[in-house]
Amino acid sequence: MRKKVIAGNWKMNKDIHETAGLINELKERIKDFQNEVDVVLCPPFTSLVVAKSLVQGTPMKLGAQNMSQHDDGAYTGEVSARMLTTIGCEYVILGHSERRQYFKETDDLVNAKVKKALKVMLTPIICVGETLEERESGVTDRIIAAQIKGVLHELSSEEIQKCIIAYEPVWAIGTGKNATPDQANQVHKLIRKLVSQLFSWSLAEKLVIQYGGSMNAQNAADLLSQSDIDGGLIGGASLKSDTFMAIVQAGVEARIP
Ligand code: PGA
Repeated sequence: MRKKVIAGNWKMNKDIHETAGLINELKERIKDFQNEVDVVLCPPFTSLVVAKSLVQGTPMKLGAQNMSQHDDGAYTGEVSARMLTTIGCEYVILGHSERRQYFKETDDLVNAKVKKALKVMLTPIICVGETLEERESGVTDRIIAAQIKGVLHELSSEEIQKCIIAYEPVWAIGTGKNATPDQANQVHKLIRKLVSQLFSWSLAEKLVIQYGGSMNAQNAADLLSQSDIDGGLIGGASLKSDTFMAIVQAGVEARIP
């Protein structure tokens, strides 16, 4: 059975003081959980070092929200994969729709970043998802297929095993309007099928596919109990310990057959 992965994408929120406050609250509550789900926090770059020291000895892991496709050099403002691993990051979100929309990231660029992340053993959380316009014009499957092919281009079977895919319909992100459990599960099944065609069914079966887009304490249980939804990438609801831990709890319960 696939273990659920609940990740908090804090986006550009929380300075180091606020980071410490939230992680200290989460630490108190996470004591009740025994690794039934993987919990990953993705604060901004400036909070990662502080966050690392605070999650030490807890089941919580650390991720970044982006990284460069380059190893090092004259790339002002960028952060490399190795810089992330040396401070204790184990995950990195790549190709988030906000990066695609505001910073013009393409599938090719995301693919280059995925390869760099894998080289230093960072687990990439690779985001895909259609816009409202694409959904309404009935091309969701085609868009998702193109994105999956693009971001996974030339990965080996060993490499795909280390990846997580996050299905995040753009129209559901930050809007309070989540995909219905059935809508999301359909796309998750499609992603698994696409991966089975590109690699093999046995690899596709093991692939963790998260859902993201207005997941919250109320809808998490329904979403996470779907056959092909293996976790969540949570934005707004990850910024408060109550709501984030309610989603972690939903992940734990959804796991019980
Ligand atoms: P949201 O964001 O939960 O606030 O919709 C999810 C995401 O962007 O990863």
